[in-house]
Amino acid sequence: MVPSLSSKEFYLFQKYIEEQCGICIGQDKAYLIESRLSKLLVDSGLPSFEALYQKIRTGRDKSIAEKVVDAITTNETLWFRDKIPWQTMEDLFLPKYIKDLREGKKSEIKIWSAACSTGQEPYSTAMFIDHYLQSNNIKDIRLSQFKILATDISSTVLEVAKMGKYDSISIMRGLHETYKTDYFKNEGRVWHLSENIKAAVQFKQFNLQSSFLFLGKFDMIFCRYVMIYFSDIFKKEVLSKIASALNPGGVMFIGSSELFNDYKENFHMKQHKTGVYYEVKG
Ligand SMILES: C[S@@+](CC[C@H](N)C(=O)[O-])C[C@H]1O[C@@H](n2cnc3c(N)ncnc32)[C@H](O)[C@@H]1O
Repeated sequence: MVPSLSSKEFYLFQKYIEEQCGICIGQDKAYLIESRLSKLLVDSGLPSFEALYQKIRTGRDKSIAEKVVDAITTNETLWFRDKIPWQTMEDLFLPKYIKDLREGKKSEIKIWSAACSTGQEPYSTAMFIDHYLQSNNIKDIRLSQFKILATDISSTVLEVAKMGKYDSISIMRGLHETYKTDYFKNEGRVWHLSENIKAAVQFKQFNLQSSFLFLGKFDMIFCRYVMIYFSDIFKKEVLSKIASALNPGGVMFIGSSELFNDYKENFHMKQHKTGVYYEVKG
């Protein structure tokens, strides 16, 4: 039988998780820690959550520490999530980026998917750009002129993302038939993403708690459905670091159901059709 999580153990893990990844778990969500770490506790053969905590704290077993972060983070994602990024890309940003590339104002366009989970977000971006170029018969601009960086704290989701292989359930979630036909081949129940789309995305493990300085500057940053799990202080820090990582005129997308007031210091909220995006100030 799995031992239950005491209040003391809850506080130990709560503090540890916030330190490691910025995720803030209130006492009303103690069950989350208990349910998500139970399997890990059983697999480890340790007698209690406190023993598991002590093992992680020694820092000698990095894999168990990673497993805790993996178990706690929510990796829910799907293809072409929300309408606004794709609508604004089609109506506003891709025409602008293509003009800038043609006029030599930019040599490349840099896009960052800052909590990419299993890859659906950056791969949707790459497929969308490729599809746009082809359907508008644009031959002088190539997908390779768009550099897409995709990062996540979890090495486990990044391994899945890098493989570019998806099962029939995840392939159904949000993917239009045209994209499925044009960019995937199936072998039994496994769907393989085409090599040119895989090659357009570079994956890296990255914790949003780290400095963004060495990543360089971006024209577009997706930071969706991750800040909702952070404390207000950390959310504010991430928003300010994102603003500093954007080129002038650069834009950020957050999830359409996320609503923060803290953006006002660094961003203008812009309405486009039924949604909003955030343009960096300055
Ligand atoms: C719910 S998924 C969102 C995926 C994608 N952005 C989307 O909207 O479909 C959140 C992701 O954030 C990652 N994450 C959580 N804390 C993080 C941190 N501190 N740094 C980087 N990634 C983090 C998780 O591992 C998870 O894959």
